Amino acid sequence: MTDGAATLADLYAPIHEDLARVEQIFDAELLSDHPFVNELCDRVRRYRGKMLRPALLLLCGKGCGYLVSAHHTLAAVVEMVHVATLVHDDVLDQAEIRRRQDTVNAVRGNETAVLLGDYLISHAYHLCGSLHDQYAARMIASTTNTVCEGELLQVHHRSKLQLSEAEYFNIIRSKTAALTGTCCALGARYAGGDDDTVDCMREFGLSAGVAFQIVDDILDLVGDENRTGKTLHRDLDLGKLTLPIIHSLANAHPQRRRRLASALLEPAGKLSQDVVDTLQETGSIEYAFAKARRCVQTALDQLDLLPQSPARDSLVGMAEFILRRPY
Ligand code: IPE
Ligand code: IPE
Ligand code: MG
Ligand code: MG
Repeated sequence: MTDGAATLADLYAPIHEDLARVEQIFDAELLSDHPFVNELCDRVRRYRGKMLRPALLLLCGKGCGYLVSAHHTLAAVVEMVHVATLVHDDVLDQAEIRRRQDTVNAVRGNETAVLLGDYLISHAYHLCGSLHDQYAARMIASTTNTVCEGELLQVHHRSKLQLSEAEYFNIIRSKTAALTGTCCALGARYAGGDDDTVDCMREFGLSAGVAFQIVDDILDLVGDENRTGKTLHRDLDLGKLTLPIIHSLANAHPQRRRRLASALLEPAGKLSQDVVDTLQETGSIEYAFAKARRCVQTALDQLDLLPQSPARDSLVGMAEFILRRPY
């Protein structure tokens, strides 16, 4: 523990051994006969992220009952889907650093990064196909459909100064929260959860995922690259209107508003002090944070249904972690 707050390692204690199993499955799935492909996959294997999605799936499983081997397979599947989206996202965002390492696109170029992302997603479906039933495969495929729709929508709305909050929430629900919702629903379903329990757990994951992306968008503006371990300050340059920016555009003085609009339309390559001051003046970081806090509360409310257990405590802790994560 640090200053009384649970670290991810603390929160993962109930699933410590399960996560180790998931990592083995993940690594074994990606072994190739081609040394060059292996070398590429090694980058992805060596640098783990926070493993939030596998952890959500396993903790929801444990919190709803018991874990079976399908949980471990599916936890590896959702992490593989997630990593595939990161590899593609870094191409779209022209990002240079991810998980404290050079991105695949920075080292090997966009072609290789696009193909590696495809390779990862293909392996995710291959792994999912090893399960005895089709339930998860259909749910994963429908989730990746939604994630792609969210990314397409984001590109479609690039630099749209009138983007509404509702449109923003639509995008982040699709590109980020759909997957965390599915993780939680799958965890519950494969633990024998009934329909109500599965629905509640999906809602937990959806609300937590929305909060997670709002905080991520805040970090993109005011976070520290050394702590997040990834390239920041890209959203504005790419014309991505995130919640603090939408709020600031609606509330800034006309002159400041005009300058904020130009920052979105004419990439400056770095975040200007003027933008930071405008966000400060309109209280937009606090505004977005309050929205994230409300989503976390909605997520926490879903957990009332679960019996007391260390896994349930960890799910509470993970929802709270979203609001204080520095990375
Ligand atoms: C980053 O997700 C992408 C978003 C949805 C914002 P994570 O912050 O969970 O990435 P890793 O897996 O820990 O690197
Ligand atoms: C999340 O959006 C992208 C995915 C859902 C893959 P971001 O572009 O904000 O993610 P980061 O900040 O690069 O991790
Ligand atoms: Mg990105
Ligand atoms: Mg981001």
